[in-house]
Amino acid sequence: MQKCSNKGVVVGPGDDAGVFRHKGTLLVETVDIITPIVDDPYTFGAICAANSVSDVFAMGGKPLTALAILGFATCDFDASVIRKLLKGATDKLHEAGACLIGGHSIEDNEFKFGFAVSGVVEKNSLLKAAGASPGDVLIFTKKLGTGIITSAAKKGKIKQSALKEAIDSMLLLNKTAANAAVSSGAGGATDVTGFGLLGHALNIAKSSKANLVINNDSVPLMNHVKELSTAGAVPKGAKNNLSFCSKKTKFADSITDGDKLALSDPQTSGGLLITLPPAGLAKFDRIMKKADMPYSVIGEVVKGSGRLIVK
Ligand code: CO
Ligand code: CO
Repeated sequence: MQKCSNKGVVVGPGDDAGVFRHKGTLLVETVDIITPIVDDPYTFGAICAANSVSDVFAMGGKPLTALAILGFATCDFDASVIRKLLKGATDKLHEAGACLIGGHSIEDNEFKFGFAVSGVVEKNSLLKAAGASPGDVLIFTKKLGTGIITSAAKKGKIKQSALKEAIDSMLLLNKTAANAAVSSGAGGATDVTGFGLLGHALNIAKSSKANLVINNDSVPLMNHVKELSTAGAVPKGAKNNLSFCSKKTKFADSITDGDKLALSDPQTSGGLLITLPPAGLAKFDRIMKKADMPYSVIGEVVKGSGRLIVK
């Protein structure tokens, strides 16, 4: 994407959200649209909202307003489905601190839903993909596997009840994690979404001109993900992500193809990947424990030129 030369642009394309300075205020703006991953409209609406506001949290910002974008085939839908979808979305937006103030719908044979979200960020709270420094620890705040689990459920490979862990994870806002990251002095963060853990880690490595070391055994996976990825039962996106990241990733011999696919699994409303100076870890831990939020230290940032090391 071409860079804009306007001096108000603080963060342009390539990060979780754009940041623009207007009269001393830093505006954070992002848009995200997804296709259905669960059947229940209320739940899907809420997941869409959590997924869309996540990019504002990933910048260290606070989401304020959202505009809905909805594509659906009018003849196929009754109004109650749309009402439930919007109810799920507005409930989750309120939890995030944002208001739905408008939107746009379009006739579309494939159902799509999402939001353009605007928020603000304090200058000292900004968490950029370029903010990682050698010596930082690498933290991940959710488990991996939403892509593998939802696609396996669609194909009947796992019981619908096994979906619950993935749904609960997708519904969880990255609000507390972002607050913990900012309060404890994190330099960088991104949310792990469509490009998988490896893809988003690689973006941090490249943007920060450093290498990221990931300890595979420390990366938490949802139930069933290990078996499914070992069997190669993963969405196409996981394979594409892996082939894209492989060129810039050094895998230890002990890392299996299944491990690599799980690390590449595209996530919806995934957790935050945070780079934090070790001195901030105690405070980060306090805030997360107090909110009963799990997290994992999965590696570290080392000197380098934008590559990943998985061991
Ligand atoms: Co993002
Ligand atoms: Co996004």
